[in-house]
This record gives sequence, structure tokens and C-alpha cells, in this order.
Amino acid sequence: MRRAVCPGSFDPVTNGHLDIIGRASRLFDEVVVGVLVNQSKRGLFTVEERIDMLREVTASYDNVRVESFQGLLVDFCRAQHASVLVKGLRAVSDFDYELQMAQMNMGLAGVETLFMPTNPLYSFLSSSLVKDVAKWGGDVSAHVPDRVRCELLARLSPPARP
Ligand code: PNS
Repeated sequence: MRRAVCPGSFDPVTNGHLDIIGRASRLFDEVVVGVLVNQSKRGLFTVEERIDMLREVTASYDNVRVESFQGLLVDFCRAQHASVLVKGLRAVSDFDYELQMAQMNMGLAGVETLFMPTNPLYSFLSSSLVKDVAKWGGDVSAHVPDRVRCELLARLSPPARP
């Protein structure tokens, strides 16, 4: 069984994440999406909400599971019996830090990292940018699945005046 982990914060999942998860699902027998529980950083969505959205938008992939994790990513990989991480690279500027993490994860536990070039359609996308655009009423329909767009609208739109 070739199993890979796609880790991240996913606050919320974007079409860029989905593109990487879908492509990874065609390369591996199983893909585990690992959602980081970060006690020191409060997100817009709770981890449960992020997982719920991820499960819905990856439901068409039979070999994708979504789980949360705390602590070291390599410990999560070990618990999931996965020895490969798949990460998207949007731009050269992503590479420095990703390389450091890949080398650290290899040194810590022999976990390999495969970098997948992001589809150019999504190379400028990030969860933070999407949240900012949605907050100010911008259209994010090309950037996130519809379920996520609705959740963003519900969370970020100013209440209607009476
Ligand atoms: O979507 P993000 O926030 O860029 O994902 C970052 C993530 C979750 C991949 C990274 O923060 C991580 O691996 N955190 C787990 C803690 C850990 O293992 N740290 C050492 C990394 S070398």
C-alpha cells in the first residue's frame, strides 16, 4: 500500500489544495489529508469545520481520508503508516522554507517529501488571500469550492442592516 500525507492548515481549503490532493490521489493508493491542530494560532474556522469542508469537497475521491493531527508531522506520518509527504509548490519563494522542512522531516524520521508544482491557475492562491478578498466582498468563486465560498460568506459578511 503506497500511502501519502498531504498536510496543511486548510483554513479553509482552496482549489489549489484540492488540485494537489486530487493529483496525489492518482499517484498513491491512499492519501491522508492531515489538518494541523495549532493551539497557538486561532484560525477563522475550527479544525472540525475545516475537516467537515475537506471531507465534503474530497468526497468524490475514494482513496482520500481527512484526519487532524497535533505535534510533529513525522509522528502523524508514522501513525498513519505513510512515508511520503506531498506538498504543492506555488513559486520559487515557497521553496526555501519547504526545503528546510523536507530536510528536517527526512532527518527526523526518513519521511520523503515530494513537491508538486501547483497548477498555474492557482499559483497565486492562498487561504489567507482568499479570506481577505471574501472579507471585503470580493468574488472568490473561482478560488474555492462552492461549499467553502458559502461558509466564507456566512462567516465574513457584515450583517445586513435592518
Ligand atoms: O498549510 P500550512 O500552514 O502551510 O502547513 C504547514 C504544516 C502543517 C505543513 C507545518 O506547519 C507542519 O508540518 N507542522 C507540524 C509541526 C512540525 O512537524 N514541525 C516541524 C516541521 S519540519
